[in-house]
Amino acid sequence: MKIRVMSIEDYDKVYELWTNTEGMGLRSLDDSYEGIDQFLKRNPATNFIAEIENEIIGTILCGHDGRRGYIYHTAVRTKYRGKGIGKALVKAVLDALRREEINKVALVAFESNESGNKFWESLGFNNRKDLIYRNKTINETLLNI
Ligand SMILES: CC(C)(COP(=O)(O)OP(=O)(O)OC[C@H]1O[C@@H](n2cnc3c(N)ncnc32)[C@H](O)[C@@H]1OP(=O)(O)O)[C@@H](O)C(=O)NCCC(=O)NCCS
Repeated sequence: MKIRVMSIEDYDKVYELWTNTEGMGLRSLDDSYEGIDQFLKRNPATNFIAEIENEIIGTILCGHDGRRGYIYHTAVRTKYRGKGIGKALVKAVLDALRREEINKVALVAFESNESGNKFWESLGFNNRKDLIYRNKTINETLLNI
């Protein structure tokens, strides 16, 4: 198993993995080829895939704004779970963020995603019950992908 930086050439295989992963909230614009291309260009060193012989078996996206890192789309193909691959992907992200002098990282998980939340808890990602997550959609355009 190898972990390497994700490039846009990986998009089709990565998207196939995302669409076959439960608990993954995909967005038509953000997760389109163009959306991911833009994200990788802004964050060229903090997105990773895990692969075995050309098969992509895990992904993690992460970007930062110069202050906080944000993790998205952590996924490991079902038959490879429970072998430390998710943990290794998170470690790759944390090491990359440290290299960019980012000191804190956050993510959003569906409350209903019990195993996903156990995974994050085991890696020391605390559930901040004192905060309220707020957001606002500023572009409603939908793409047919
Ligand atoms: C969450 C996910 C990425 C974990 O990947 P993984 O490779 O199986 O995780 P690891 O083997 O590295 O597990 C690391 C630790 O997380 C915890 N963990 C992982 N899966 C767990 C589960 N189903 N239940 C409880 N704890 C779990 C364990 O403590 C584990 O440590 P251990 O192996 O020493 O017991 C994977 O299950 C997945 O793709 N799930 C669907 C997508 C998803 O929910 N992503 C998170 C979105 S917020």
